[in-house]
Amino acid sequence: MSHYTMHDFTSPTFKANPFPAWEELRTTEPLYRFSVAEKLEAWMVTRYDDVQAILKDSRFIKNQESLLSEEQKAQAPTPSVTMNLLRYNMLATDTPDHSRLRRLVSKTFTPRMIEGLRDRIQQITDDLLDQVEKRGEMNLINDFAFPLPVTVICEMLGIPVEDREKFREWSNAILDQTGPFEERQEREAEEFAAYLRQLVAIKNERPDDRLVSQLVRVEEGGDRLSENELISMIFLLIVAGHETTVNLIASGTLALLQHPEQMRQLQADPSLIVSAIEELLRYTAPVIIGTGRWASEDIEMHGTLIPKGDMVLVSLMGANSDSGHFAAPTDLNITREEKEHLAFGKGIHFCLGAPLARLEGQIAIGTLLRRLPALHLRGDAQDLKWRPGLILRGLQELPVEF
Ligand code: HEM
Repeated sequence: MSHYTMHDFTSPTFKANPFPAWEELRTTEPLYRFSVAEKLEAWMVTRYDDVQAILKDSRFIKNQESLLSEEQKAQAPTPSVTMNLLRYNMLATDTPDHSRLRRLVSKTFTPRMIEGLRDRIQQITDDLLDQVEKRGEMNLINDFAFPLPVTVICEMLGIPVEDREKFREWSNAILDQTGPFEERQEREAEEFAAYLRQLVAIKNERPDDRLVSQLVRVEEGGDRLSENELISMIFLLIVAGHETTVNLIASGTLALLQHPEQMRQLQADPSLIVSAIEELLRYTAPVIIGTGRWASEDIEMHGTLIPKGDMVLVSLMGANSDSGHFAAPTDLNITREEKEHLAFGKGIHFCLGAPLARLEGQIAIGTLLRRLPALHLRGDAQDLKWRPGLILRGLQELPVEF
């Protein structure tokens, strides 16, 4: 049976409290067919075991184009600039392209390499708090949760942090889409692509020891990275560095403010920060739904046929609030012992930036609670606005006082 947007997963009101919808779908319709956009239906999967199984199953693929016949490929419309930015990176490809692309950057993101950034991340965090401390209030997103991860990723890549408002506009425009690609989005993507090509030209002339320069050298070296792959890789790293950790820090802070006994426990014992961040990842779902996958053959699940070519989406928040896997899943419990949450995905596309996101989250929230112990919300939590879009879950603004 088909339902048409009975649940609008992209709407800000849905984002404010998604737990009941996931609970309903897990119990009544674990494979839920719905309309993502005009002429595009998909299956939403919400149970922990199913989500995990799909993420580990190579029959669910990322590169939809590989399912087309030569004839269909010839008839396909010329891909938009947005599509080109999105489709040549590791998150959009399958083995063996995926392994080749991921291997080029995996060393930079190992827990050991990331640990080497600890002092710098602490310094950026302290600088941001120095700037607001005397004011007694801030918009926690613009003043703290956003600039922190953005400064870190810009420094890792070797791109000017002054350009961050441009990236923010471009990447918000591309990610906040709720329907088919719009004209405005395509314009923003064109500007973003032009910026990235210019960046590559600059690094060609004046190489440094940062990640973009390293990748430019690989591309120069010939057949291991094409120009499209290079641009798409930098795009992915910028967007992932801009759009995710900001949500962990901001929604994580909100969750603690709404659970004062948990917040006091963490303030009393700062060593709980590591398990607290895992719980906040599970509970706040910075990436609420995994990126789209396609069935590469007919696949049966729970007695239902998922025909070859169909789109499948996995709800990471649905999996992480499954009472079959987590006791009292809608409770926030910073000392929770079950640690196998799926907030970073699973399988070959498991988040490359997980060690970085964890460290940034630990330092940001740990330092915030230590330096601004009187932190509280300004206004009513009911009035907070959430951003639209399918994949991410994050607040528009978070006004606080301290
Ligand atoms: C709290 C912060 C973050 C969360 C919750 C998160 C979550 C995720 C998830 C769920 C995926 C898999 C998506 C799927 O399979 O459909 C993913 C992939 C990825 N993430 Fe993150 N991410 C975070 C931060 C970061 C950061 C800071 C970076 C690095 C700059 C990053 C880089 C990537 C990359 C490159 C991939 C693609 C990996 C692949 O395809 O092999 N992420 N992330």
